[in-house]
Amino acid sequence: MPDFRMLLSPSANHVYRDATPRLAAAELEITAGFADQIAITSLGRADALRFSADDLDELALAAQSSLLVGFEESDGWLRPLDLPNLQVMDDDLVTIPKYPGKTNEAFTRLLLHLTLSQVSRPGPLEVLDPLAGRGTTLLAAWQAGHHGFGVEADEKAFDALASYLKTYLRTKRIKHSAQVSRVRREGRSLGRRLDAEARLDEATHDHPAQPGAPRLKMTVFTGDTRDSATLFGRKRFDAIVTDAPYGVVHGAEQRSSGQRGSDRHGSERHGDPHPGGRDRSPSGLLAEAIPIWRSQLKPGGALGISWNTYTLSRDELLEMLTDTGLHPFDDGPWLEFEHRVDSSINRDLVVAITD
Ligand SMILES: C[S@@+](CC[C@H](N)C(=O)[O-])C[C@H]1O[C@@H](n2cnc3c(N)ncnc32)[C@H](O)[C@@H]1O
Repeated sequence: MPDFRMLLSPSANHVYRDATPRLAAAELEITAGFADQIAITSLGRADALRFSADDLDELALAAQSSLLVGFEESDGWLRPLDLPNLQVMDDDLVTIPKYPGKTNEAFTRLLLHLTLSQVSRPGPLEVLDPLAGRGTTLLAAWQAGHHGFGVEADEKAFDALASYLKTYLRTKRIKHSAQVSRVRREGRSLGRRLDAEARLDEATHDHPAQPGAPRLKMTVFTGDTRDSATLFGRKRFDAIVTDAPYGVVHGAEQRSSGQRGSDRHGSERHGDPHPGGRDRSPSGLLAEAIPIWRSQLKPGGALGISWNTYTLSRDELLEMLTDTGLHPFDDGPWLEFEHRVDSSINRDLVVAITD
């Protein structure tokens, strides 16, 4: 059986880098059924995976979130594979923003890929992040050619996403529309919404058209995630992908210094605002929000959540998911994703599907 190597993208975050090979091996095992005898190895000083395969599925290999280069081994030589580029927008769409509380983009791509791999429908898919922050999941969804929808309670995070997106699309000279408007129902103000569309299929002066590329849509509401079904009305989503609040409250000094981005010091800083007068703990929030999110999923859809296990055990979260009729994956490689973020955050993820 031919042998292959997969060189892993380097990460500036040293804590995440240590966990990457294990997480990448589990991702490969789940999403690339053709890969056999997956093992962690290295190429020079770079982390890599090794696997055997009779029938290499190039698309599935190209979709791995931490793939840098793939190689086939023959007679002791490594031949680079000419894998398709599945990203419809540049990497910098997701990597440029740096701010306290940003979810590591490599981890976001992993959670997105794992969740979308369990959706039965072909893309482009409609992805909701009901705790959107400044939009790492939504931007990663766009980059992978999917539509992004979100809800975020922090008005400043919403403003930052809206202004970043407008600047990015203008600077890259991508044909687009993007506007923020007030949401009113029955004469009452319900907050604001961002509606954006990137028309990648239309050329501009220095941005070539991508024939067949989707027109990517994004809609984000300000508001409480527990009002997500009210805000989006009858709309249903193929996938919900979200990084839950970590239950870590930072002092004003840490927040205002604003210098500790996710990849700078090996630590993601997660300050969580607590909007509304309802339950303020991350576990209380998830207990109230999961049934609402569940109602927003299409049949055949999938929900992927990452969370801090110091605030909620895996078993408790699994129970919340099964109580709403979702079916979480909880065996084999699905148990390999837990990793340390910093002294107050131990992160894990779970993906669950509808019937
Ligand atoms: C871990 S952060 C997500 C960060 C995001 N992935 C990013 O990279 O920007 C969790 C987010 O949930 C938001 N949040 C917390 N409670 C909320 C609620 N009840 N409704 C809506 N958003 C909430 C916080 O403001 C925060 O932006």
